[in-house]
Amino acid sequence: MHVVTGAFSFTGAYVARALLERGERVRTLSRRRERGHPLEGQVELARLQFEDEEALARDLADAETLFNTYWVRFPRDDVTWADVLENTRTLLRAARTAEVGRVVQFSVSNASEASPHGYFRAKALAERALRESGLSHAIVRPTLIFGRGELLLNNVAWTLRRSPAFLLPAGGRYATQPVSADEVALLAVDLAARSDDVTADAAGPAVYSFGDLVAAVREAIDARARLVRCPPWAVLAAARVVSLPLGDVLIRRGELAALHDDLLVSREPPRTTKRLEDWLAGEADALGRSFVSERRRNWQ
Ligand SMILES: NC(=O)c1ccc[n+]([C@@H]2O[C@H](COP(=O)([O-])OP(=O)(O)OC[C@H]3O[C@@H](n4cnc5c(N)ncnc54)[C@H](OP(=O)(O)O)[C@@H]3O)[C@@H](O)[C@H]2O)c1
Repeated sequence: MHVVTGAFSFTGAYVARALLERGERVRTLSRRRERGHPLEGQVELARLQFEDEEALARDLADAETLFNTYWVRFPRDDVTWADVLENTRTLLRAARTAEVGRVVQFSVSNASEASPHGYFRAKALAERALRESGLSHAIVRPTLIFGRGELLLNNVAWTLRRSPAFLLPAGGRYATQPVSADEVALLAVDLAARSDDVTADAAGPAVYSFGDLVAAVREAIDARARLVRCPPWAVLAAARVVSLPLGDVLIRRGELAALHDDLLVSREPPRTTKRLEDWLAGEADALGRSFVSERRRNWQ
């Protein structure tokens, strides 16, 4: 039996599916009920919570592997990076108590304790917590994951479908190296089967500037919006104006700054082959038809 945090969310669903396809038994730790989800009835359900470590350990008992996707996109309300780290440590302690055989933890490309970006610094500290836990482990460091249920490309498409212009930040490439969610999941499952402690980037075969990325989405959905370069502050201001009626944020200052520093690009040879354009072509009809709210999905 394998435990996957977030089997009814984005990447966790791909991991759960990959395991089920191999005939494995899967339990998820999630805040969600499975009603209406395609994996409904196929995975066992336990609650993702960090207040009761003993209950967590009970939910992890008899797990061969814990696939830990738990994280937040940015601090919000009264949740800080320190809280997210503490929750991660609680989960790892519970895994240790439960004598889980292996932990596969999702980090991010270019995680670093010296990073000026909170997300990347906190991810590096979470990696350290796992390395110091004594648990057999693999750390998967994805770049930008694409697949059904992701937010960023969908909301880029949503904006392109509605606006006469799409603002791109000037003053850098804002590069990314998108990777398909199903290949990230397969990599995670393969790394789970090893016994050495390993850290591996999960990155796609090609690097795109943010302009190239938006242009690829625009072409796939046949949108006509003009791509206009402007200072990053104007991009953030426009994103705020668009997001206001939605009660959400399209992109945050910190996220744009991390993109500016090309942190979603791997320095390792790519381990996956699926091209973004092929996925976009298959998703073109559905992509961006409705806005996917990060707030509604993860904070309510
Ligand atoms: N998406 C990307 O492009 C990308 C890129 C690099 C690294 N990563 C990393 O890969 C992992 C999976 O990412 P994802 O985008 O697939 O994440 P996700 O599905 O949105 O969420 C992953 C897990 O975190 C939990 N979670 C999310 N927001 C939360 C909140 N506000 N409070 C409590 N729990 C919360 C979810 O709980 P529920 O199961 O209850 O929903 C789920 O178990 C994460 O560790 C992420 O940092 C993702």
